[in-house]
Amino acid sequence: MLKVINLTVNGKAHELAVDDREALVDTLRNRLGLTSVKKGCEVGECGACTVLVNGEAMDSCIYLTVWAEGKNIMTVEGLKGPNGELSPIQKAFIEEAAVQCGFCTPGLIMTAVEIVGTGKKYNRDELRKLISGHLCRCTGYENILNAMERIVDETYKVVGK
Ligand code: FES
Ligand code: FES
Repeated sequence: MLKVINLTVNGKAHELAVDDREALVDTLRNRLGLTSVKKGCEVGECGACTVLVNGEAMDSCIYLTVWAEGKNIMTVEGLKGPNGELSPIQKAFIEEAAVQCGFCTPGLIMTAVEIVGTGKKYNRDELRKLISGHLCRCTGYENILNAMERIVDETYKVVGK
């Protein structure tokens, strides 16, 4: 059944008529063209489709679009600066060579945004647990953890908590 919903994606309000069985990943990719959101397993196992829903990292493949009524969604496309510049988190991934094929990267970056948003300083073991919902088949995780650690440390320095 079609339902009309209102949601905000990357700061922009949208009114959409969606099938009540449609997954958010499909709405974001197919209707709004936000192809940073990747489809991997489609059963909530790999983390490739992770987006923020009201600031919380969610697997958008198992999140129905109708549940997003009135909510704020953020994807990697929403991280860019006013002149299209990369966010500090994206830069950290590049500087630490935490990207190979890049398929898992957008989901990991959105989880990193959630982690940094807590303002807490996590150690490497804690970070390892926090990214355990993400599968990467290329990097072996060490560089990803280096990038996460770097951005958490930098934020900690700035925030001073
Ligand atoms: S595609 Fe959503 S968790 Fe794998
Ligand atoms: S960089 Fe290829 S799956 Fe993670």
